Amino acid sequence: MSQFTLIDGKAVSAKILLDIKQEVAQLASKGITPGLAVVLVGEDPASQVYVNSKERTCTELGLYSEKIVLPVDTQQQELLAVVHRLNASNKVHGILVQSPLPAHLNEEEIVRAINPNKDVDGFHPENVAKLTMEDSTGFVACTPAGCMELLKHYNIETEGKEAVVIGRSLIVGKPMALLLMGKQGQATVTVVHSRTKNTSEVIKRADIIIAALGKSEFVTAKDVKDGAVIIDVGINRVEDESNPRGYRLTGDVDFNAVKEQCSAITPVPGGVGPMTIAMLMKNTLKAAKQLENYTD
Ligand code: GUN
Repeated sequence: MSQFTLIDGKAVSAKILLDIKQEVAQLASKGITPGLAVVLVGEDPASQVYVNSKERTCTELGLYSEKIVLPVDTQQQELLAVVHRLNASNKVHGILVQSPLPAHLNEEEIVRAINPNKDVDGFHPENVAKLTMEDSTGFVACTPAGCMELLKHYNIETEGKEAVVIGRSLIVGKPMALLLMGKQGQATVTVVHSRTKNTSEVIKRADIIIAALGKSEFVTAKDVKDGAVIIDVGINRVEDESNPRGYRLTGDVDFNAVKEQCSAITPVPGGVGPMTIAMLMKNTLKAAKQLENYTD
C-alpha cells in the first residue's frame, strides 16, 4: 500500500472543541450559557465512563452541565418526570438519556418525551424525520455525524463510492446510511445486518466500510478490498488478564489484520469515540442558539 492514513479522531475532535469553546465564549458575552443535561440510570461501567466524559467536556468548554444519576430500579414514571423537568428548565438546552436503559424501562417512550428541540442525541422521531428529509434544523445522531466529519476532515471522497454500513441501529447504522446516501455523502449505500446472507462478499465491495455492529474484531482481512477506507465505530470490552483493568478495548474491525490492506482507518480507542462527544457539544450549542433565537 503506497499511502496509509491513521485517522486521528482525537486531534480532529480537539480542533472542533476549540472552535466550540470560542463560540461559547461569544454566546456568554450575550448572556447565553448553553446547557446540557445527561441522565444515567443504573451503574453500567461503560455508560459511567461516557457520562463522566461528557460532563468533563462541558466544563472544559464553559457549558452549564447537569448530571443526573438514578438508581437501577428507577420506575418509568420517575424517569419521565425527570425528562419533563428538564424540558421545562431554562438552563438546559440539550437532554441526553444514556442508552441502554435497564430492561424494565421503555426507552422509546422516554425518547419521545424529550422536547425535540432539546434532543441533542437526534433520536426523537421528529429529528429522525428531519434527517430523512435533509432538513438542517434537526439534530443528527452524534456518532454518525462524527464519522461524516472525519471523512470530510481527511478529504475522503464519498460521492459515487460504494459504502457498506454494518449494523442497523437507531444510534448509528440507520442515520449513518442516510447521511452517506444523502446530499452530504452522495454514496451508494448497502446496509449489512444479522440476516444478510453473503456478508463477507458485500463488505468486500466497499470503498468505505462503517463497522457498527458491536462485535469485537468482526471485520477481518478477507472482508476488505485493497485501498478501502474503514471507520470503526465499535468499542468492545474484551477480557484481558494481562491488562491492569482486566479488559482491553477493541473495535469491530481486526485492526492489525486489515491495516496493510486499507488506505485509511480509525483506531479504537482514539478514532470515532472522541468525535461523538464533540458532535454532542456541537448539537448542544446549536440547540442553545435555536432555543434562545440567537443569530450571528
Ligand atoms: N449509548 C451509546 N451511544 C450513545 C449516544 O450517542 N447517546 C446516548 N444517549 N446513549 C448512547
